[in-house]
Amino acid sequence: MTRLHDADRRDFASDNYAGAHPEVLSALVDANGGHQTAYGADAYTARLQEVVGAHFGAGATAYPVFNGTGANVLSLQALLPRWGAVVCAETAHIQTDENGAPERVGGLKLLTVPTPDGKLTPELVARQAWGFGDEHRAQPGVVSITQSTELGTLYTPDEVRALADQAHDLGLRLHVDGARIANAAAALDLPLRAFTTDAGVDVVSLGGTKNGLLFGEAVVVLDEAAAPGLAYLRKMNMQLASKMRFVSAQLVALFEGDLWLRSAQHANAMAARLRAGLDALGDRVHVTLPTQANGVFVTLPRAVSAELRRTWTFYDWHPESGEVRLMCAFDTTEADVDAFLAELRRLLDAQG
Ligand SMILES: Cc1ncc(COP(=O)(O)O)c(C=O)c1O
Repeated sequence: MTRLHDADRRDFASDNYAGAHPEVLSALVDANGGHQTAYGADAYTARLQEVVGAHFGAGATAYPVFNGTGANVLSLQALLPRWGAVVCAETAHIQTDENGAPERVGGLKLLTVPTPDGKLTPELVARQAWGFGDEHRAQPGVVSITQSTELGTLYTPDEVRALADQAHDLGLRLHVDGARIANAAAALDLPLRAFTTDAGVDVVSLGGTKNGLLFGEAVVVLDEAAAPGLAYLRKMNMQLASKMRFVSAQLVALFEGDLWLRSAQHANAMAARLRAGLDALGDRVHVTLPTQANGVFVTLPRAVSAELRRTWTFYDWHPESGEVRLMCAFDTTEADVDAFLAELRRLLDAQG
């Protein structure tokens, strides 16, 4: 087959725009050949359980799935009764970017809370965690947080623990959308379990795709009692891969050694470099949020954004204010960041 794209071109639109890490591709080749039992009873899925146990504790169980929306819907379904509801930030991916799948497919209700920085606090959760026993209100049963958040911010282990304690005191469970959990661990310089298992989290949607997999995530259940029936629900939700060895082999390649951490540290470092470069442009641009993981949010003059888009792809965040999101990936280079900044500076200077 002829290559149909420029393999040297990278953008700042999303960590999903990146390809697969060569070490992941090589693990797929190693996992190929011969026959292995389908639907998860294979050697790679067994190894994944050991790898996940080493990160999250021996009681953790991994359920590999195809994508992040699937991981979230499945996690929330497993954690809730039919009449249950999820308290989450207004900016949560489950609310903004899953086309209503938690509600339509999961059959549950989202109870959203506005936040300044994408993070829930016990005070914010309390705004929606009420009405227990009232048959007229969907019953709050889960608090869902995203780590790192959709706004590029982080929860500390103490912040997660406070949310878990509150949730458990109220009879709720705590779910973490960890599509970018590796970026959080890298930024916090902590093992994954420090802000999940050890902080009282019940279920994690463990991200792989944004950190270098072809595709693949896993629902990681930390408290088996919290999520009964997960295996049945995975099939019902069309997230059970028949050739599961190829999802598991990718996750093993990522999490067995330090590939997950190296890749996330690199993406975060590129975001920090980008942030520093934006700061150096003075008050012509305005960084709107703390840069704690691999995303940078900045307001640019609209005419400048339009020109910049001739060379680079990136997403509008708030088109009204000119705020854009710039994401770095495991394969973003220093040269990419510097070239982006140079072009931005040139356009700002030309604007006068
Ligand atoms: C916070 C968050 N959660 C989950 C996902 C997973 O989504 P997908 O279903 O596209 O794999 C994403 C991807 O953009 C995300 O940013």
